[in-house]
Amino acid sequence: MRLSASLTLSAAAFFGSVFADAVPFERLNKNDSLLLILDLQEGLYNLGRDFDPTLYRDNMITHAAIGQAFDIPVVMTTSSQSGPNGPLPQEILDMYPDAPLIMRQGEVDAWDNADFRAAVQAANKSQIIVAGLVTDVCTTFLALSLRAEGYSVWANIEASGTTTALIRDISNDRMQQAGVHVVSMFSIVCDLMRDWRNTPGAAELIPWFDRYYPAYGYVARSHRAAVENGTVIPGEAELPS
Ligand SMILES: *[C@@H]1O[C@H](CO)[C@@H](O)[C@H](O)[C@H]1NC(C)=O
Ligand SMILES: *[C@@H]1O[C@H](CO)[C@@H](O)[C@H](O)[C@H]1NC(C)=O
Ligand SMILES: *[C@@H]1O[C@H](CO)[C@@H](O)[C@H](O)[C@H]1NC(C)=O
Repeated sequence: MRLSASLTLSAAAFFGSVFADAVPFERLNKNDSLLLILDLQEGLYNLGRDFDPTLYRDNMITHAAIGQAFDIPVVMTTSSQSGPNGPLPQEILDMYPDAPLIMRQGEVDAWDNADFRAAVQAANKSQIIVAGLVTDVCTTFLALSLRAEGYSVWANIEASGTTTALIRDISNDRMQQAGVHVVSMFSIVCDLMRDWRNTPGAAELIPWFDRYYPAYGYVARSHRAAVENGTVIPGEAELPS
């Protein structure tokens, strides 16, 4: 008995990494998703110092555009927007003229606001995609509140900003410890798409990437140019195929 118990224990220790790998892969499903645009406000933008400012502006807009790409519902909220935190950028407001926009008058954690909770609950979705300003406060507080309520949460790390890389890192760690999926924009979009042959798939998303994610859009441009009008030049011809 004793021997077999100790064998079982050592086997468990030995295969611990295998057990860890068995953590289920929860996938985003566009039918179950809600996109939150959380305090991506023009004033707070100035606290997003862990990114180049031009890149960060683009990342906020791209985060917002995920809702358009997949036609998933969107809830927007702002914190004390008549003060220094400022409004959402007009480019984002123009994307969703009909989406709920909850202007919180004081609550730091958006979940403390009854109208915001009602808007999230009314969407009736289990998977919440979020990015906010700032990562350590707005994004983390809401992400942890949503986890406590039983939602699955995907934090788009590229569209939350804060003052330093140290603060970003400890905030992302804190969210991960609470079971938040801390992920890139491209990972969110590819998980929602799942298959290039879906709709939306290549036909819709290659133009979307060209606008919002040139790292892939320009791959596609380059490939098209090569197919339409390309020539294999000396030097290339000798490369392994
Ligand atoms: C989403 O719902 C549609 C319509 O019910 C279904 O055809 C599709 O397979 C669903 N997508 C996913 C990823 O489950
Ligand atoms: C909420 O979503 C669930 C699962 O998709 C569905 O069964 C239910 O009818 C929905 N409830 C409302 C009020 O739409
Ligand atoms: C195709 O390539 C030729 C030179 O190889 C160039 O003169 C022409 O402008 C190109 N056409 C397009 C549409 O890019």
